[in-house]
Amino acid sequence: MQLLEERIQTAGQVLGENILKVDSFLTHQVDTNLMKEIGQTFAQTFKEAGITKVVTIEASGIAPALYTAEALEVPMIFAKKSKNITMTEGILTAQVYSFTKQVTSQVSIAEKFLSSDDKILIVDDFLANGQAAKGLIEIIEQAGAKVEAVGIVIEKSFQDGRQVLEEAGHQVLSLARIDRFQDGQVVFRQADL
Ligand code: G4P
Repeated sequence: MQLLEERIQTAGQVLGENILKVDSFLTHQVDTNLMKEIGQTFAQTFKEAGITKVVTIEASGIAPALYTAEALEVPMIFAKKSKNITMTEGILTAQVYSFTKQVTSQVSIAEKFLSSDDKILIVDDFLANGQAAKGLIEIIEQAGAKVEAVGIVIEKSFQDGRQVLEEAGHQVLSLARIDRFQDGQVVFRQADL
């Protein structure tokens, strides 16, 4: 997605070896016009797929997932990272290890929001090692629902997330694919959408 790549080039900051800071339009302040384009791009791709829900994980996945769900006219569910006092029963959970943050967290979705009739599109902001998406898939499959595909805003293709998900039989579609960071600049490879 050209508009997204241009924004990453102009507003993204490369931090250290492998981190891209995109807090001016995606992970902190959110550019709603860009999110709308992102949502419409995913929705266009999956409009014939019979998607019933879009699933993401808090916090930064929520913006692109919400605009995608709106464009597909389906609900959006975000997995929670901490236990909410109102989530008292019927919770589906998975353990997610973050290599970036080096912590394991439990993510959860209330059982009542997923059913075996659901066809799910997962949307997330970053794909690094694929552990967040893997946890979401685990939860969705516990509910007997089907994961149609995983839609990613920014894939860091030099990490093994795509491989992990594809080897588990899932389709990954990314709007921007980062091949490498070179002299503080982002070098892209051909994106999926
Ligand atoms: P994985 O899910 O693909 O295995 O990724 P990993 O555990 O390595 O990433 C953990 C968190 O760090 C995720 O956010 C992910 O979105 C974020 N992240 C990974 N690489 C980058 C990067 O290059 N830049 C930025 N800005 N974020 C990155 P999270 O823990 O779910 O937190 P949040 O959504 O609440 O911010």
